[in-house]
Amino acid sequence: MKIMFMPDALATRVAELAQTIEADYREKDLLLIGILKGAVIFLADLIRHLSLPVEVDFMAVASYGAATKSSGVVRILKDLEVPLAGRHVLVVEDIVDTGLTLRYLLDLLWAREPASVRTCVLLDKRERRLVPVPVDYCGFVIPDVFVVGYGLDYAEKYRQLPYVAVLDGEEG
Ligand code: IMP
Repeated sequence: MKIMFMPDALATRVAELAQTIEADYREKDLLLIGILKGAVIFLADLIRHLSLPVEVDFMAVASYGAATKSSGVVRILKDLEVPLAGRHVLVVEDIVDTGLTLRYLLDLLWAREPASVRTCVLLDKRERRLVPVPVDYCGFVIPDVFVVGYGLDYAEKYRQLPYVAVLDGEEG
């Protein structure tokens, strides 16, 4: 596997994102929503840089390769535990590809009448986008390659790698 982002590059960027988020949400009561399972490591690193009084909740949605993927209809495997009405919500996602997952999630979250919803995404495969989605905080824009590590999987494997790498056979 070819390494795309070494652990120190990830750590530096995550700290920068946290700094921006902290400045934007000062005086606000922030609820971070981690999208399982891919965002777990990113979220864990991100929140340790935040000195705001944040809350954390999780949602799990049907993963990459699900039959519903191309339709943009995402199956909710685990829903939130907290109501969103009036809350400032930040969705934390590992990667945006076609945008279908995030688009669906955002529509669903907005229907619960939060005060605001923004998105924080570690990796953005911008050139693959099929539907427009707002990415308010972006770690890195990457090309159209399949990446694993730092929470991202291939068939549930490789999530534990401390770096982001291009999966073998996925490049050039
Ligand atoms: P989208 O709905 O096409 O934007 O897909 C988003 C989801 O697809 C992410 O949350 C990931 O679970 C998965 N995904 C997309 N690209 C990759 C990749 O390169 N590696 C691992 N998972 C990916």
